[in-house]
Amino acid sequence: MVVSVRSVQDVAIVTIENPPVNAISHAVRQGLLDAKQQIEADPAIKAGIIVCADRTFIAGADIREFNTPPKEPHLPDLVIALEGGKKPLVAAIHGTALGGGLEIALGCDYRIAINSAKLGLPEVNLGLIPGAGGTVRLTRLISAEPALDIMISGKPVSADRAKNLGLIDATCDDDLQNSAIAFANRIKDEPRPSQILTRMADYDRAALDKKLTAGAAKARGQNSPVAVCQAVRNAIEMSAHDALAAERKLFVELKSDPQSLALRHIFFAERATSKISAIKGVPAAPVNQIGIIGGGTMGAGIAAACLLAGFDVVMIERNDEALAQGMSRTKATLANSLKRGLITQAKHDRLIAAFTGSISYIALADADLVIEAVFEDMEIKKAVFDALDQACKADAIFATNTSYLDIDEIAQSTINPTRVIGLHFFSPAHIMKLLELVTTKTANPTAIATGVALGKRLGKITVPSGVCDGFIGNRIMSAYRRTCDYLIEDGALPADVDAAMRDFGFPMGIFEMQDLAGLDIAWAMRKRRAATRDPQERYVDIADTLCEMGRFGRKTGSGWYQYENGKATIDPTVTDLILQTSARNGITRASMTADEIMAQILATMRTEAAAILDEGIANSADDIDVVMVNGYGFPRWKGGPLFMALKP
Ligand code: 3HC
Ligand code: NAI
Repeated sequence: MVVSVRSVQDVAIVTIENPPVNAISHAVRQGLLDAKQQIEADPAIKAGIIVCADRTFIAGADIREFNTPPKEPHLPDLVIALEGGKKPLVAAIHGTALGGGLEIALGCDYRIAINSAKLGLPEVNLGLIPGAGGTVRLTRLISAEPALDIMISGKPVSADRAKNLGLIDATCDDDLQNSAIAFANRIKDEPRPSQILTRMADYDRAALDKKLTAGAAKARGQNSPVAVCQAVRNAIEMSAHDALAAERKLFVELKSDPQSLALRHIFFAERATSKISAIKGVPAAPVNQIGIIGGGTMGAGIAAACLLAGFDVVMIERNDEALAQGMSRTKATLANSLKRGLITQAKHDRLIAAFTGSISYIALADADLVIEAVFEDMEIKKAVFDALDQACKADAIFATNTSYLDIDEIAQSTINPTRVIGLHFFSPAHIMKLLELVTTKTANPTAIATGVALGKRLGKITVPSGVCDGFIGNRIMSAYRRTCDYLIEDGALPADVDAAMRDFGFPMGIFEMQDLAGLDIAWAMRKRRAATRDPQERYVDIADTLCEMGRFGRKTGSGWYQYENGKATIDPTVTDLILQTSARNGITRASMTADEIMAQILATMRTEAAAILDEGIANSADDIDVVMVNGYGFPRWKGGPLFMALKP
């Protein structure tokens, strides 16, 4: 029984128990409808409470059912039935009330939530809009502007904010069920509040219009934010009946929109990445203290991420000056989190107290896990791991954040290669969601399970990868960057390629991205590899020439583009260099359309991905899609390069 009813005196308690997140499956819809009818029919019952078992209130409609024909009772009808009952209902919320979960709560007369609860309508993240009256009821309950913010961002709000907005009626510290019973006893004999649908939405027309225009403009080719804006307009301009019907129509259309199919694909793919069969049932090692070697861009960011997740962190640098710089980078990130209200002053102070630094490896004697993020140089890294061997506990786990180096070789240089893994973070490490967990040939299951557990605790999407040059993501990126070099030698210009990528949905093109990251790092790598490069392989040396000219990107004021006050402009010097290179190599340049450019980039991604799968570097095509979407700006609403190939 996914829905059960019991009573405490004259209050009925309807409990939903549909693990793991109490999603509204057909059985839940039917169960709730039956429960409501039971309450209505029982003269001894004066009010009802809807509460959920386990970790959360209803997290939304069951997304898995979206691919099957809809079955009655439909969710919008269920909400209307709940709303139209003769006895008052109270939704008692803990965990998250999301999507259809919040819509059910909006069908109740009252909402009470535990302080830690979050409430939201995240359908936009799945390429949808709320489809069970949420767009209309939320807009009419809390006014149009905050309702639009909640629906267009897809971000849940805290119980506190929900209370201020008038979305919920009361909060409680703990013991939600008893608080809800007490609440129900208070209101059971009072006059019922007016139904939300009978109210008129409150809004400031000018401010709302501005938000609606901005919301639609920010959609960058995505359909669901535009549909959310339309639904909010409908909610204020149409009768409730018509607005509900229009919402339903939009929802049904979006459900079969390729963008929604892609977003649902990524939703499930992201949740599958860390289910690694080799570590099924293997417990992670306990981790309290984490050592970070190197306080540069990555080390400082990883330290901040670990502190924010509640770990003690010890940073090691090569001298006092570098240590002071590294620690202040991390502290600046924490200060910024405080400034933006993401953490309280008390939490900030706790994190600072949990953060220490040293230039001696002795400080790592108690570290349970060490993450190395020093210069990308095999010999320097091996020397660091040698020092770790001497200083750390025998069961400490060692990880490297290397971007390209052979982690098997690093592992083999240590006393116990089984405890070495790769943890490849992305910059900025405290923000980027992706974490590649590189499993060496020798890594033991505990080390891998500990990497997965760390990723979960840091709130990352952890994707396992085997060892190869660049692992999954950088290997694919290197391949399509090469293709883009060919494209500019063959006839396109960097601005053409960047525009094609942006139009496709990337936040920026590959040349803009290189200018942002700095051209010097990849140049150093190419120089290192020059001796071993296959002389038969096509090689475009335009980027090398730019570096020889001192054009390292934004940080030097010029790279592929010229920068003035941070604004990129096309530089005729670079255009001439490209034209001359084509001519020198006997290439007759031919112009290309954006579609032709993207077709070549996507084809390269897929070819490299196929090789990665063949070699067993990635566990699945879905994992590759997740990497490209979360680490490389591949538009989420297209589902990733491999999903696109299957479902054009
Ligand atoms: N339907 C089906 N399964 C769902 C689900 C949903 N709405 N939400 C989560 N799940 C599944 C996950 O796939 C996962 O399954 P698995 O264990 O087999 O991998 C399991 O529940 C646990 O999910 P998470 O790993 O994400 O657990 P977390 O604790 O990290 O997060 C959560 C919980 C915040 C609820 C998160 O799962 C989430 O954001 N879920 C989606 C919420 C959502 O988008 N709701 C709107 C749905 S659309 C809708 O309601 C339409 C309506 O307007 C008509
Ligand atoms: P960085 O140059 O900003 O920082 C490296 C830090 O290591 C410096 O602060 C340096 O003082 C310190 N260091 C050098 N040798 C040391 C030693 N022996 N002991 C202690 N500290 C030492 O480099 P960045 O960008 O942080 O990269 C670090 C590693 O992370 C590299 O392996 C890089 O390939 C990898 N990486 C970099 C990414 C990026 O976007 N920058 C992304 C993912 C991985």
